[in-house]
Amino acid sequence: MNDFDFDHLIDRQETWSDKWSKYAGTDTLPMWVADTDFRSPRAVIEALKTRVEHGVFGYTRTPETLNQVFINRMQRLYDWTISAEDLVWLPGLVCGLNLATRALSTAEQAVVTAQPIYPPFMSAPALSSRDLITIPMNDRVIDFDALEKAITAKTKLLLFCNPHNPGGGVYRREELKRLAQIIINQDLFICSDEIHCDLILQPELRHTPIASLNEEIASRTLTLMAPSKTWNIAGLACSVAIIQNPELRERFKKVRKGIVPDVNLLGYTAAEAAYSFGDEWNRKQCEYLKGNRDYLIAEIGNISGLNMQLNEATYLAWIDARQLGVDNPQRLFESHGVGLSDGQDFGAPGFVRLNFGCPRSRVEEAVHRIKLAVASL
Ligand SMILES: Cc1ncc(COP(=O)(O)O)c(C=O)c1O
Repeated sequence: MNDFDFDHLIDRQETWSDKWSKYAGTDTLPMWVADTDFRSPRAVIEALKTRVEHGVFGYTRTPETLNQVFINRMQRLYDWTISAEDLVWLPGLVCGLNLATRALSTAEQAVVTAQPIYPPFMSAPALSSRDLITIPMNDRVIDFDALEKAITAKTKLLLFCNPHNPGGGVYRREELKRLAQIIINQDLFICSDEIHCDLILQPELRHTPIASLNEEIASRTLTLMAPSKTWNIAGLACSVAIIQNPELRERFKKVRKGIVPDVNLLGYTAAEAAYSFGDEWNRKQCEYLKGNRDYLIAEIGNISGLNMQLNEATYLAWIDARQLGVDNPQRLFESHGVGLSDGQDFGAPGFVRLNFGCPRSRVEEAVHRIKLAVASL
């Protein structure tokens, strides 16, 4: 199979896929949880094969070569100078969000985040018995004025997502500077989830890690990144926290100690291959995803009662279905064979999230079924 054949339909039934198992035995199109239906690049598959053929799967250390590839990548893409000691590899981003909440705030302090948001941003504070303050999004970016107003003496940590999920907004440099100034002025920390940073669909836009702006904001930031979404290796569980402030890093490591396991051998193997050899493949993937996105914008825009936000990044379409006037649009579409994520879980009832990280023909079929669902009302 051609490495760039994103049109190819791959059968994921009975492969223990979370996404596909939910609708096993039905013909519902699973378009909810955020992994794609694409095969990883050949270079990733070959690296994994070599590891598996070696046949020994003992305890593993972070490969220095992976650290170096990642450090070089941050320098090359973002002019951001980091060192190996700043990196803490983790078996997941959500785990990083929860650890960051415990490490960067106390039980007496509060955490702030902008809604709608990927659900673990809302559950992490509760799981650590921290108060959660929510502020609204202003379309693509957080409402900065609302953020400033919401901060109290108790507030210590902002859980931030860039590119944003859902909605796929990419923060501009000037917006990040404004945010950094608020963090500094208000004496806060920021945990910046940048898991979708390689999935920018607009060729004119670039990702900027907030910590790369200057040393002052870097010393208050814990950045989370991963190769998992970009190269479809989420099941291999490998992510990284970048913490340049040694005191915060020690706090983070202490919270994780004895509780969070190390990354596994295959996760490291896939991550290193993806970061080393996956960029050309991802450029093509982003072009393909942009095609899916443009198709959806055109089609959904023509369906009365639905409105889709133009996602600048991610393969996740955020659709406002409130004008349909139904209690639960997720259930409506599911009953017509399209399995979407319910906006309610992101703090936005009446919205749905559609994962278009799949062959175009499946997106077309989903649109067909969505039209039938709306026509049934
Ligand atoms: C913003 C964001 N953070 C984290 C994750 C999940 O990360 P992980 O599977 O590494 O825990 C996702 C998955 O959809 C996500 O969209």
